[in-house]
Amino acid sequence: MSVVLSVRDLSVDYGQLRALSGITFELRRGQTLAVIGANGAGKSTLLGALAGLWAPAEGSVGFNGRDISALPAFVRVGLGIALVPEGRRLFASLTARENLLTGQQRGRSGGWDIAAVVELFPLLEALLDRPSGRLSGGEQQAVAIGRALMGNPELLLLDEVSLGLAPVLVEQLYAALPRIQAAGATVLIVEQDVGQALAVADEVVTLLEGRQVLHGAPSQLRREDIIDAYFGARAA
Ligand SMILES: Nc1ncnc2c1ncn2[C@@H]1O[C@H](COP(=O)(O)OP(=O)(O)OP(=O)(O)O)[C@@H](O)[C@H]1O
Ligand SMILES: [Mg+2]
Repeated sequence: MSVVLSVRDLSVDYGQLRALSGITFELRRGQTLAVIGANGAGKSTLLGALAGLWAPAEGSVGFNGRDISALPAFVRVGLGIALVPEGRRLFASLTARENLLTGQQRGRSGGWDIAAVVELFPLLEALLDRPSGRLSGGEQQAVAIGRALMGNPELLLLDEVSLGLAPVLVEQLYAALPRIQAAGATVLIVEQDVGQALAVADEVVTLLEGRQVLHGAPSQLRREDIIDAYFGARAA
C-alpha cells in the first residue's frame, strides 16, 4: 500500500504559542488513522495544518510523495484533501444542496455528486432545499461530510463529526465510512469517543499538549497506555 500522507517533525505556532511540535507519522492508502487527545491537545490544529489552513513552523507535510507544506488550502482541495471542520461551518443561509455544491468548486472530478451523497445519507433527500441553518446537528453533519465528498477527496479529514449527536446518528455516520473508503478515500478522524475511534482505526496517534505521545495499531497499544496518554497521567 502506498503512502498517501507523510507528516515529518511537524510544528505549528499560533503567534508565541507552539500548538503542535514534532508530529511524525505516515498514513497508507485505504487506512484509517484516529487522532485522539483531550481538549486543547492540538487535534484541530493538526487537521488544519494538513488542510493548509496554517503553515508549519517546522517540518513538512507530504501528500502522495510531494511536499505540500507551502501550498494554500484551495490548492490542497484540488489535490484531493478535504476537511470536515469542527463545528461543521456550513453557510447557514444557503440550502443543503447549495452547501453541497460549494464542495465541488475547487475539488477534483470523480464519482461523488448530489445523488451519491443522498444515497449515502438518505435523510438528506427531503432536506436539500432547506437552509442548512434550519437543519438539526446531525443533518448538518451529514451535509458537511457530503460537501467534503463532493470534492472527491483522496484524503478525508474528519474533525469530531460525532460531537453532540444522538447515538443513532453517530452510528449512521460511522456506518457510512466503509462506503466512503470504497470510493477511494483514506480517512483521518479526530474523535473524543476513544472507544469509537479505536473501533474504526487501523492506526492511532495520541496527542497531549501538542506532542505525539503514542502511535501504533490499536491492537498493539494497551488500553491503559492510551488512557494515560490521553489524560497525561505520565506527564503529571
Ligand atoms: N486560532 C488560534 N489562535 C490561537 N490559539 C489557538 C487557535 N486555535 C487553537 N489554539 C490553541 O492551540 C491549542 C490547540 O488547540 P486545538 O484547537 O488544536 O485543540 P483540539 O485538540 O482540537 O481541542 P478540542 O478538543 O477542544 O477541539 C490550544 O491551546 C488552543 O487554545
Ligand atoms: Mg478541536
